[in-house]
Amino acid sequence: MRAMSSNRNIVILTGAGISAESGLKTFRAEDGLWESHPVDQVATPEGFARDPDLVQRFYDERRAQVLAASPNPAHMALGHLDRHFAGELLIVTQNIDDLHERGGASRVLHMHGEALSAWCRACDARHRWTGTLREGPACPACGEVAMRPDIVWFGEMPYRMDEIFDALARADLFVSIGTSGAVYPAAGFVQQAAAHGARTLELNLEESLGSRNFDETRLGPASELVPRWVEEVLGR
Ligand code: APR
Repeated sequence: MRAMSSNRNIVILTGAGISAESGLKTFRAEDGLWESHPVDQVATPEGFARDPDLVQRFYDERRAQVLAASPNPAHMALGHLDRHFAGELLIVTQNIDDLHERGGASRVLHMHGEALSAWCRACDARHRWTGTLREGPACPACGEVAMRPDIVWFGEMPYRMDEIFDALARADLFVSIGTSGAVYPAAGFVQQAAAHGARTLELNLEESLGSRNFDETRLGPASELVPRWVEEVLGR
């Protein structure tokens, strides 16, 4: 097993838990609802087809929440790591917020899409979007009224999987932060990385479904665990 200080290639997977202390709700609360909606109502293509107005309003609210939130010490610490770590680094996030970027990180891949992006189904263009979509604005590129949230819903293919699997195959350290390990393919990344020889570390508030797959699990709030781990990696 490699020592932490010998890491040359780190892949970090983040989930809703890293943004919880910024006031953004996680998904798998006891009631199984996301912001008081059943997930299949607001996070599936079928739900959107059934009631587009409800789904657009839902993501209009999520977009407004993201804009109002601020990065917490965990995002800031990963931003610091990204700027100071000389090796290869990739932050793969399942989160649709932009708190990693606002925390100073640039090597970020949003596998489940972004709240602040709109996707035109007519011409396939994507636009940074900070306003609302419920009123059916025309696409700035083609003029059609066909924009939906640029979010990967259940039943859709996560973005940039080839790049992610390439990075996992090269990683010598894989770190999972604030994710329940309930949703694939992200839940399987730990096994992918380990199969290629990476050391694996989990930082989470509580034991997750995938905890037994990691070499090491540290339990606690991300705002405490992540800055401490970043200090270790940077050797200070
Ligand atoms: N610090 C660290 N971990 C935390 C904190 C915190 N302050 N608060 C909560 N957690 C942990 C929870 O214990 C839980 O294990 O974060 C995890 C959040 O799990 P989920 O709510 O399931 O979120 P996530 O794993 O990101 O969900 C994956 O599911 O609904 C879909 O597409 C959506 O990207 C999402 C995916």
